[in-house]
Amino acid sequence: MTVHILPHPFLAGGPKRLLIGGKHVDAISGKTFETCNPATGELLATVAEGGAEDIDLAVKVARETFDEGPWRRTLPVERQTILLRLADLVEREIESLALLDTLDMGAPIRHTRGSGAFLISLLRYYAGMARGLHGETLTPSIPGMFACTLREPVGVVGAITPWNGPLWAAVLKIGPVLATGCTLVLKPAEDSPLSALRLGELVLEAGAPPGVVNIVPGFGATAGAALAAHGGVDKVAFTGSGATGRKIIEASAGNLKRLSLELGGKSPNIVFADADLKAAAPAAAVAAFANSGQICSAGTRLFVERPIYEEFVAEVAAFGAKLKIGDGRDIETDLGPLVSAKQRERVEGYLDSARADGANIISGGSRPAQPALAQGYFMTPTVLTGVNDQMRVTREEIFGPVVSAMPFDTIEEVTKRANATPFGLGAGVWTRDNGKALRMGRDLRAGSVWVNAYNVLDPAVPAGGYKESGYGREYGADHLYDHLNVKSFWMKTD
Ligand code: NAI
Ligand code: MG
Repeated sequence: MTVHILPHPFLAGGPKRLLIGGKHVDAISGKTFETCNPATGELLATVAEGGAEDIDLAVKVARETFDEGPWRRTLPVERQTILLRLADLVEREIESLALLDTLDMGAPIRHTRGSGAFLISLLRYYAGMARGLHGETLTPSIPGMFACTLREPVGVVGAITPWNGPLWAAVLKIGPVLATGCTLVLKPAEDSPLSALRLGELVLEAGAPPGVVNIVPGFGATAGAALAAHGGVDKVAFTGSGATGRKIIEASAGNLKRLSLELGGKSPNIVFADADLKAAAPAAAVAAFANSGQICSAGTRLFVERPIYEEFVAEVAAFGAKLKIGDGRDIETDLGPLVSAKQRERVEGYLDSARADGANIISGGSRPAQPALAQGYFMTPTVLTGVNDQMRVTREEIFGPVVSAMPFDTIEEVTKRANATPFGLGAGVWTRDNGKALRMGRDLRAGSVWVNAYNVLDPAVPAGGYKESGYGREYGADHLYDHLNVKSFWMKTD
């Protein structure tokens, strides 16, 4: 395995600073915090710790850039050009950006590098959409009156992102802002702030005016809460836990901010006996274990039709047991560590509760034995059987490599059980019977339903939550229109 001695060129040269108004600045308090590599526990960088006063400054800059500057009136073609240049820059630097995320939150380099093509394509999608956004001409039933709608940028967006896909999340927040002519203050997760800071530099290099995209790392309770409550912010785009999502809703009340919330889930993955089981078993393992389970739409409730239950679950467990756990910098690593000691403790807490509730851990369930991994926050892929719908492990989002496998007997039963959750982000169905597939597609209450596939995303296809998985959509035209206000324009013509 190759482990670089100098971890990354971006980390050279002292503390990483906030990016406000196109300038690198220290936090007003002078405070910094540390971000570590969760595979080794080693310090990667110290980062300026944005607080409420830095958020205030960044929002003022974003506000002024929006209200006073030419930015919001730039032609669609100019915003498209900036986004296309940004896509080219991300393409040029993808190795470096991917490595930054691998170091900062542990995901295997194969995974972070592998996301590159998607993220570049996503930026090019936003570039295209920048020229495709439009209002409508309407026909009111009032004689002599003309009416049309104008779509105008909503204003200053405050984005708060989690650590499970730092670059991905930053692209998802920056893309629609640039496409629509909004401005942005982005607070990346404290566990993985680095790639967003680098991406902010590339946004400037791509030609976005200073002040359009501002990046302020800091903690949730301080910087995050200040951004969510700030009266100068028009919309908050949040991805993270339901608990924090609820605080963001409360904080939005002051100036009635628009919100989009992507809050995770407990997604069902349902395997019928007639499915292509050779494809379904590895896919079910990947659905649960990819990114060490730190994926909002992870397929963590695996429902398997009873006649194939034992055999299928054994295959999922065997696939999980073969995955190579290790430092994400190793090209052969399938699973990296969890993001932090705290996150691993959370996951271990859930496994304790599973044990106490009488579940069977048929594979995994522990820290890996290899001494080389002892300093990192690793967990083995875990398959639980003997679980029921009432246990904490089957109800709550764990955000670790843990899947609960449960048998079912009928389509009516599994539909009801799959829907018996407060969440509704994704759902998978595996069957060769198109009638069943269509019926499940209709009846499952989730923002995305995949048949004979899992976790497929495309820039043009919206994704988001039903129920407590949140509201608003990312990807697709809905994502862009979420950043636009509708203005109705009337004129008396005769
Ligand atoms: P979190 O929701 O607290 O953190 C996400 C982001 O929100 C971070 O940038 C954080 O600094 C910020 N934040 C925290 N408190 C805030 C506040 N009061 N106001 C404004 N912003 C705030 O999630 P955390 O603590 O990192 O993870 C805990 C659990 O949440 C995980 O185990 C997982 O179950 C869930 N989660 C789900 C995610 C998803 O994509 N669905 C992503 C991250 C966490
Ligand atoms: Mg880190």
